[in-house]
Amino acid sequence: MKAQIEQIKINAKEEIQNVANLKDLVDLKVKYLGKKGELTSVLRGMGALSAEERPVIGSLVNSVRDELEALISEKETEFKQIELNKKLESEKIDITLPSKKTVRGSKHPMSLAIEEIEDLFVSMGYDVVSGPELESDEYCFKKLNLPEGHPARDMQDSFYITNEMLLRTQTSAAQARVMEAKGGKEPIRIICPGKTYRREDDATHSPQFAQIEGLVIDKKDKNVSLADLKGTLEVFARKMLGENSELRFRPSYFPFTEPSYEVDVTCFKCGGKGCPLCKKTGWIEVFAAGIVHPNVLRMSGYDPEEWGGFAFGPGWDRITMFKYAIPDVRYLYTNDVRFLKQFDRQEA
Ligand code: DAH
Repeated sequence: MKAQIEQIKINAKEEIQNVANLKDLVDLKVKYLGKKGELTSVLRGMGALSAEERPVIGSLVNSVRDELEALISEKETEFKQIELNKKLESEKIDITLPSKKTVRGSKHPMSLAIEEIEDLFVSMGYDVVSGPELESDEYCFKKLNLPEGHPARDMQDSFYITNEMLLRTQTSAAQARVMEAKGGKEPIRIICPGKTYRREDDATHSPQFAQIEGLVIDKKDKNVSLADLKGTLEVFARKMLGENSELRFRPSYFPFTEPSYEVDVTCFKCGGKGCPLCKKTGWIEVFAAGIVHPNVLRMSGYDPEEWGGFAFGPGWDRITMFKYAIPDVRYLYTNDVRFLKQFDRQEA
């Protein structure tokens, strides 16, 4: 039996030495060491041996098994290494080849405009805040003095998601949110730029558009009068639309301000002489604004006897269109690269 085991060992070693690939190696493992393998069947015949011989043969079989297993795993590592090397070789990248030209994008004109506007307001001590686009009826209307059934709601035909939730029709919704967050006790100076939605669609109206809400609240004697509002809008217009801009306040109506105004700026194309852009009037409507209504202050925790302020709301997309002479609001939202490329300000 000893001789038989030695023979198996010699044969196995030779076969393992000469094996051609991983698959054949696995077959060899089964052939010699598997459940029905040659070495295992020797063990099965051990019943016929004497009690003295059994441990001797047993330990011989074990040592041959160990030796073969070691050889096989060594061979296995060798094959795996060869395979890995082949793979590495085939996947080699020539880093000296010139790369494909990648096209870099550019900032959207709306982003260019808001960056400038934010810088301006931050320099005047404002914070920039954002509110949710999916807003409640409460913040979008009720807390802005537009109770249910108020006729002024009709001007803002809306996308309701449920009876209570809608896509906000105006960034003015941020007013009550900010006032509540300040707990009725701190002054406020914010702008809130963001997306807004209404059911309208033509060359000057897109169902998705964008506004910038401005709100300033302070103790009544602290620079929050109509004159301060006018000064603020003047700075805004002169920075964004032309340094010779003049303003014209026309009385208007908004439920959350009293008095309310629509504010025109001298036409930045003709300088006020009259041209097709301003429909020969010399003026272009840019802002809606007013003095915050006492009801709005009260509903959000500010005592209107003590506190007051002003609010304003230019269209972010309108300002962008004016600034860059863009004729159709839909250019801003359809993402045509031929249009967007014109705003590429990268260095050559
Ligand atoms: N949110 C109003 C609208 O979309 C515009 C507006 C009017 C904003 C008066 C204001 C304001 O802050 O004071 O029609």
